[in-house]
Amino acid sequence: MLSHLLSIADLSFNDIINILDSASDLKEKRARGKTKDILRDKTLAMIFEKSSTRTRISFEVAMTELGGHSIYLNYRDIQLGRGESVADTAKVLSRYVHGIMARVYKHETLIELSRNSTVPVINGLCDIEHPCQILADLLTIREYKGKFKDLNYSWIGDGNNVCNSTILACALTGMKMTVACPEGYEPGNEFVERAKEMGGRISIISDPLKAAIKADILSTDVWVSMGDEEEHEQRLNDFKAYQINSKLLEQAKHDVMVLHCLPAHRGEEITAEVVDGPNSAVFDQAENRLHAQKALLLKLLS
Ligand code: CP
Ligand code: NVA
Repeated sequence: MLSHLLSIADLSFNDIINILDSASDLKEKRARGKTKDILRDKTLAMIFEKSSTRTRISFEVAMTELGGHSIYLNYRDIQLGRGESVADTAKVLSRYVHGIMARVYKHETLIELSRNSTVPVINGLCDIEHPCQILADLLTIREYKGKFKDLNYSWIGDGNNVCNSTILACALTGMKMTVACPEGYEPGNEFVERAKEMGGRISIISDPLKAAIKADILSTDVWVSMGDEEEHEQRLNDFKAYQINSKLLEQAKHDVMVLHCLPAHRGEEITAEVVDGPNSAVFDQAENRLHAQKALLLKLLS
């Protein structure tokens, strides 16, 4: 039984397929104007230590459309921001709400929340993972490609939180992953090792053009993640050669789909021509946050 979602690898392949099937069903019903009231009287607390557009709004709308309620908690506005412990916050919230979604700087905060919470805790992005994003990505890939097995997934750029979760997701679903990143920006070794233990096929290289060859999926993320702002200039310099642009697209399969979790910085990690072009799936991907998280909430809260 799944009790928390801190890592995408907390889910088995079957869990993922169940969530995606449920998400597709909910998406189709929403399109026909049908919503479900399964989470009536349930409340989700959403703690944010960092900014968010998609995560916040998609979770809020998901709870509303499922008949429940959500509470946005900027950590500065609650006692957590004045030094109340994470453990006490988790214990208190557990007496009121039915689930806690948290976007935090440190993964350890999520572990501490989950250890002290009697309700499910969901990782809404931390320094090392972004599992909710990856559920939406998988839903989008399945919609476009109809399968996962043996697809070539190429990640260009920073080996960051989204990249780490993608590595695990590729291993779980049988996609072959290539990461092209500058030296010093590789994904977490524990994620690469874990993926290999799960039978994942993954290579970490430095040449973006090589990584893009025959790609079914080309994906990237910002060069400067939240929390990395002090390294802004250095990073812009180090990642210069790691842009998804039309030259890179030429290496990939003709029907390559381009993913980006957003927000995008046009002219940095991706050109406007590509992110707004015919191969881009980024707005379907963003929409799918809603459907995938509804399915996740049903699994954890109902
Ligand atoms: N992709 C994503 O998590 O977006 P937000 O930062 O806007 O939530
Ligand atoms: N890697 C980015 C993702 C934003 C959704 C960050 O952590 O800021």
